[in-house]
Amino acid sequence: MSERNERNEQPGRTIALVTGANKGIGYEIAAGLGALGWSVGVGARDTGRREAAVEKLRAAGFDVFGVSLDVTDDGSVAAAAALVEERAGRLDVLVNNAAVTGGMPQQPTMVDLAVVRTVVETNVIGVIRVTNAMLPLLRRSASPRIVNMSSGVGSITRQSESADVSMTGPISAAYSPSKSFLNAVTVQYAKELCDTNILINAVCPGYTATDLNGFRGIRTPEQGAAIAIRLATIPDDGPSGGFFEDAGVVPW
Ligand SMILES: NC(=O)c1ccc[n+]([C@@H]2O[C@H](COP(=O)([O-])OP(=O)(O)OC[C@H]3O[C@@H](n4cnc5c(N)ncnc54)[C@H](OP(=O)(O)O)[C@@H]3O)[C@@H](O)[C@H]2O)c1
Repeated sequence: MSERNERNEQPGRTIALVTGANKGIGYEIAAGLGALGWSVGVGARDTGRREAAVEKLRAAGFDVFGVSLDVTDDGSVAAAAALVEERAGRLDVLVNNAAVTGGMPQQPTMVDLAVVRTVVETNVIGVIRVTNAMLPLLRRSASPRIVNMSSGVGSITRQSESADVSMTGPISAAYSPSKSFLNAVTVQYAKELCDTNILINAVCPGYTATDLNGFRGIRTPEQGAAIAIRLATIPDDGPSGGFFEDAGVVPW
């Protein structure tokens, strides 16, 4: 069945969209939200990887639908919003999870500027692009939530106070600063949207074994997904404009 003709409006069911949900932490966020009985859009840029993930999630009993979505492409993001509108008429929860590191090493003194551009385009501008395309649908929700998948390596406090690479990640001119930029953007959204019912927060999954780090992380993707699921399910009086990990608030 094509993604487009699966209209399946379920007024009582929470509708979520996770970007970069074909693997890693994003896949587990989709599974975790599916386990809550939600209808979850599996955002992924590659057709084969998206369909494989949708098939696996459906086999596990979850109500999921594929959403073709490259966060760096205006047309792809607009089409994704149209698909969610056509299918569900609104969006309750957006998880901006997709990101790239740009590859290491990434020393500021030697970095390839094309790498910096790609990383910022994906990790920051991509989040703004997707968020703004989905906002009209989120505004139709009774309790809209946006979760931006950041990283503790984007904490300038940790970068400047710790020499522990497990806290700071490798020196990087693109990846870590892209997450600092994303955190700053998250705060600006929270300020602009403070008079609405939209709650937006940044989260850190911890050092998780995924493709992103050659599976060197020490947490499972399921563990990494937990904090995003927590912030996706906060009540109406929950926080907005914050930065959280499992252990609590992450310093800026
Ligand atoms: N793993 C960690 O230790 C760790 C720590 C802190 C924060 N994070 C954050 O957690 C999030 C998930 O990362 P992960 O560890 O699960 O990495 P991952 O396994 O590499 O997954 C990244 C996902 O993002 C997708 N993606 C990349 N560029 C995209 C684009 N232009 N459009 C749409 N999707 C795109 C990838 O799709 P493709 O399969 O098509 O490439 C993939 O689905 C990221 O925001 C990352 O920065 C991870």
